[in-house]
Amino acid sequence: MLTNKKIILGICGGIAVYKAVELLRLLTKAGAEVHVIMTSAAQEFVTPLTFQTLSSNPVHTELFNLIAEREIGHISLADQADLFIIVPATANVIGKIAAGIADDLLTTTVMATKAPVLFAPAMNVNMFTNPIYRENEQKLRRLGYLFVDPIRGTLACGWEGEGKLAAPETIFEGASAALTEKDLLNRTIMITAGPTREEIDPVRYISNHSSGKMGYALARAASRRGANVFLISGPTTLAEPCGVQFVNVTSADDMHREVMARVDECDVIIKAAAVADYRPLVRSATKIKKKADSATIELVRNRDILAELGGIEHRPFLVGFAAETDALAINAEKKLREKNLDMIVANDVSQVDAGFNVETNRALLLFRDGRCIDCGLMSKDQLAGTILDHVAARLMAD
Ligand code: CTP
Repeated sequence: MLTNKKIILGICGGIAVYKAVELLRLLTKAGAEVHVIMTSAAQEFVTPLTFQTLSSNPVHTELFNLIAEREIGHISLADQADLFIIVPATANVIGKIAAGIADDLLTTTVMATKAPVLFAPAMNVNMFTNPIYRENEQKLRRLGYLFVDPIRGTLACGWEGEGKLAAPETIFEGASAALTEKDLLNRTIMITAGPTREEIDPVRYISNHSSGKMGYALARAASRRGANVFLISGPTTLAEPCGVQFVNVTSADDMHREVMARVDECDVIIKAAAVADYRPLVRSATKIKKKADSATIELVRNRDILAELGGIEHRPFLVGFAAETDALAINAEKKLREKNLDMIVANDVSQVDAGFNVETNRALLLFRDGRCIDCGLMSKDQLAGTILDHVAARLMAD
């Protein structure tokens, strides 16, 4: 996802520096080339060797190191970067940068770079709320510097409050967003994800194997591209993606209610959820006891949310999913037509590397105008990107 991206990771001295190690791991795993600069205070907490080993690049610490200056130079490091991340960003370093002070390698390189700079601050709550700090942060924000806000929690100094470094995954998401073109800016996209659960009694339910991974990948990707995202999710074990408006639902009826309440706000709706087609006619209030050798549960049809959306007169751009085990293109094309969709993502869930609960997918994209694109095997993150490329192109053309 971050392949060929050059990132400078500026490490300051703070107890949260250990989380920067995890962030570095996430960045390199996503394919980024990471160059680390450490302040002298940072080296009091973690040695450069840790960052050097994980980044596979020498760590830069000295402003006036003549050999490094000849070979790389702090200015060339600044020139080559696609993104500069400062973590944990201390009140001291933020204050210096806001004041234009460049007295070590990190602050000098920030001053010299034209790349976007992303701060992930971490400090004591009183420092965080200090008007001097607030003014510095606001000045940098006004100038276009980016921030991943700290969270509330118990701080290393014993105080409780805001100032705790954001999770490495959240900073990673902020970095990915900073490197992504905002071609869905000001668009509102609703995505449904995961399975639904139809209760039989307080103990049992009917559901399916959907993990929610495809829908969550779409929500993350749309948010990075600048969209306002509603993620309406059935029960999953996945972490709530940052930057989206998350709505938890259980049954198909819940999902129907939450989707319909937001239709008017949306430019696009992508229905990746595996909605149960049926629910028990009666939900028993108490646990059903076993009696006879066989039992029957009478089921009734759930409303088809997507078909209902397709019937709305001035409806948003509508993308459906088709989970099939045979006649993939034929079945998907039928759903596209019958539910009046603009586009459908068809996947063969009988394949081991596609559909439910795996990281990859093999999809056919079918369009209203008869086009059919075979995406082949790709990760769900890549497929989310491809789907949104088509959505963005279509929105642009309108
Ligand atoms: N869908 C929906 N509401 C339902 C059932 C399905 O909104 N009650 C949506 C799904 O989110 C998906 C699309 O319809 O985008 C197709 O779902 P799928 O389960 O593949 O097909 P069904 O329409 O349910 O048809 P069948 O189960 O007969 O294949």
